[in-house]
Amino acid sequence: MFFERPDSGEVSILVHITIDSESERDDPSEFEELALSAGAMPVDYITGTRRQPSPSYFVGTGKLEEIAEAVRAHKAELVLFNHALSPSQERNLEKHLNCRVLDRTGLILDIFAQRARSHEGKLQVELAQLQHLSTRLKRGWTHLDRQKGGIGLRGAGETQLELDQRMIRQRIKSINKSLDKVRGQREQGRRARKRAEIPTVSLVGYTNAGKSTLFNNITEAQTYAADQLFATLDSTLRRINLPNFGATIVADTVGFISHLPHQLVEAFRATLEETASANLLLHVVDGANEEHTHLMDEVNAVLREIDAQSVTQLQVFNKIDLLPDVQPHIQRNGEGKPFRVWLSAKTGEGLDLLEQAMTELLAGTQVREEVLLRPDQARLRSQLYAKEFVESENIDESGNYHLELRMPEAEFSRLLAQQELVSLNPSAGEEAQQFWAEKELTEKAKDEQLAEVNAAKYCVN
Ligand code: GTP
Repeated sequence: MFFERPDSGEVSILVHITIDSESERDDPSEFEELALSAGAMPVDYITGTRRQPSPSYFVGTGKLEEIAEAVRAHKAELVLFNHALSPSQERNLEKHLNCRVLDRTGLILDIFAQRARSHEGKLQVELAQLQHLSTRLKRGWTHLDRQKGGIGLRGAGETQLELDQRMIRQRIKSINKSLDKVRGQREQGRRARKRAEIPTVSLVGYTNAGKSTLFNNITEAQTYAADQLFATLDSTLRRINLPNFGATIVADTVGFISHLPHQLVEAFRATLEETASANLLLHVVDGANEEHTHLMDEVNAVLREIDAQSVTQLQVFNKIDLLPDVQPHIQRNGEGKPFRVWLSAKTGEGLDLLEQAMTELLAGTQVREEVLLRPDQARLRSQLYAKEFVESENIDESGNYHLELRMPEAEFSRLLAQQELVSLNPSAGEEAQQFWAEKELTEKAKDEQLAEVNAAKYCVN
């Protein structure tokens, strides 16, 4: 009952105020897209500038009258603010405008409520909505409650009139309990995959970049793809057979967005954290969007927040069918490693190149090696078996074990460096040293790059 999608098409007035004290502000056209995504029918877009938000109405009295006039002229049912409003600002505005008012957080929560598909996703959104609502229970709804079921009133919002704080607390408690259970199951699944050493490739990207379309195309699964923001809300996993490589898990994740409300970052933390343990990230970018560089920065900022910045990334520049003169191709770095693939998830051109690039990058993360263990290394041997790294085994006349291993390169190099293993490949020791030296260099370079980006971002003026 919580997540039905009524056709609202509510006549809405959008309000975007540029605040002088805020250096970065959302793009007004993105806000319009968000409103459309929620099913609103925007009829007017009121903009303005202010040095600081007014404590009582967010906007000043002149702007307030302009909004009130627009509400009357269009018989608007809803006013959407591209800002986080305090509960009292929302209440004052509703009273003055005699119309429902929703802030950016409420709007995004509403979109998430419409799109959540898995049990866990629904629970996460409901939890975030309840937390948002619990601060807003005391508003004067009496003259507005006819409009139940509209934007911001879906999901948990629908029942807000009947719920009191105590009931909300109880519901939050029970959702948290259910979420713990679901997370436990997810963790078990993740461990099983890790044991079986099936690499995971996670799709990340700004909302609407084309992740679901690509996911469907790679996995030939039919998940929901729509021309709306946030078509994906749950990390969806599929197993594929990558040509010349083997079994791989592909995970589709929630679409990222700038200034994601804090409650939602928290709510989706568990889902997003799965990304941090992936072997490879496919960063899907809408190559036809002029803002793509900025959107990539936003995605990378979220990746840093969830500690996924050091996972190998392959950029997938999507929608080349919309770009004249761009053919599918792979771009490589100085070492010849792929870092960007240009393709169209919709037409399928370039998908073979994506598979080729994924194979190259994933193969680089696994090694197949023959090693020798002494008879007294039974503990290490059983650990290698427990992790299912051992492909075959022979024992020689001195009781030494000759093992053929298939395992992550980083772990193999660590064991070699600690001299736990003796490789039967004579150059393996050098390779291990080289591997760690390179890793250190890459990490240093990444830190320096990050420092540069931050310096550019915060010290321009
Ligand atoms: P969220 O779930 O909101 O994060 O979106 P997403 O990144 O999963 O995007 P989705 O796959 O839903 O695609 C968004 C829109 O872009 C849909 O209308 C797709 O049909 C369209 N689209 C995806 N790939 C392509 C492409 O290669 N070319 C063109 N022209 N459109 C594409």
